[in-house]
Amino acid sequence: MGRSELLWTGTALGFLLFVPGILGWGKEGHYAVCKIAEGYLTEDALTAVKTLLPESAGGDFAAICSWPDEIRHNFHWRWSSALHYVDTPDFSCNYKYCRDCHDSAGHKDICVTGAINNYTMQLSSSYQEANLKLQYNLTEALMFLSHFIGDVHQPLHVGFTEDKGGNTIIVRWYRRKTNLHHVWDDMIIDSALKTFYGSDLEIMIQSIQRNITDGWSTDLALWENCSDNDTVCPDPYASESISLACKFAYRNATPGTTLGDDYFLSRLPIVEKRLAQGGIRLAATLNRVFTSQMKIAQA
Ligand SMILES: *[C@@H]1O[C@H](CO)[C@@H](O)[C@H](O)[C@H]1NC(C)=O
Ligand SMILES: *[C@@H]1O[C@H](CO)[C@@H](O)[C@H](O)[C@H]1NC(C)=O
Ligand SMILES: *[C@@H]1O[C@H](CO)[C@@H](O)[C@H](O)[C@H]1NC(C)=O
Ligand SMILES: *[C@@H]1O[C@H](CO)[C@@H](O)[C@H](O)[C@H]1NC(C)=O
Ligand SMILES: *[C@@H]1O[C@H](CO)[C@@H](O)[C@H](O)[C@H]1NC(C)=O
Repeated sequence: MGRSELLWTGTALGFLLFVPGILGWGKEGHYAVCKIAEGYLTEDALTAVKTLLPESAGGDFAAICSWPDEIRHNFHWRWSSALHYVDTPDFSCNYKYCRDCHDSAGHKDICVTGAINNYTMQLSSSYQEANLKLQYNLTEALMFLSHFIGDVHQPLHVGFTEDKGGNTIIVRWYRRKTNLHHVWDDMIIDSALKTFYGSDLEIMIQSIQRNITDGWSTDLALWENCSDNDTVCPDPYASESISLACKFAYRNATPGTTLGDDYFLSRLPIVEKRLAQGGIRLAATLNRVFTSQMKIAQA
């Protein structure tokens, strides 16, 4: 191969590996997280959320939860791409905000947990201090926050730096060639929909909701709780994610592996529990943000 051909191949490969990757949970995952959250919002929070929804949502909170993925490749929003994930040191299986939360150029706080803090602060400072300077676009803040609390629960959104959270690990999902990150964003959920839920997302969401009220009800207080009464606490969620990534996502999924029934059936319960936790914690965060000590004046 000539040098230019090599370069071209390298570029094409880089392009193929990079572009389809690093979206958050797929559309279905984000929809599920927000739909679950909606059921746990207090009346005050639901009212505030509905006020902030853009016209295009048609009053459906869950409809906005993929918005940050839809815009991120648009020129004006390219900067927001680095807010969807956080990279951790290779093979260390732990996460530390100070060490890990930066973009690839080293700018601090530019990562998913930094973004969750940022957009929570924008919403709560505007609501609780009736800070009506309108320096923030609160509709955008709500859409970003709702999306990123979903993302931080996807184990490979807190993955190793070298493999870009599994994006460069090429595997087969049954017969289809894809990458490990995409398996966790979409393929496990898609296969579950087809195999167990008659391709109906509402039915999948309902069975997760049933597990929340039946199986996991005693865990909810722990899921929701932030230590020190903080409004938001994304760091423990990120720590859980990298730990699950090591135990379940990366395990038995080296480059070139074909993933099938064994992997699918053992990982699906992890995915469903993370969607549940994402929903419960999104609701708890919004409930804390929109406690009605002070309500924003409606313009
Ligand atoms: C915080 O939000 C603003 C407005 O969207 C954005 O410009 C900034 O980059 C965000 N910072 C972080 C750390 O998310
Ligand atoms: C707030 O953000 C949304 C979504 O980007 C946009 O449609 C809307 O025009 C913005 N509002 C203001 C006042 O800029
Ligand atoms: C609900 O919980 C049961 C028992 O733990 C589990 O087998 C099932 O996969 C769970 N379903 C969902 C949708 O979380
Ligand atoms: C919440 O977390 C704090 C500190 O981690 C702990 O002291 C408290 O007992 C927890 N509350 C619940 C309901 O789990
Ligand atoms: C958290 O809030 C509760 C109730 O408002 C209060 O009793 C408790 O002391 C607070 N804990 C901390 C660590 O601030």
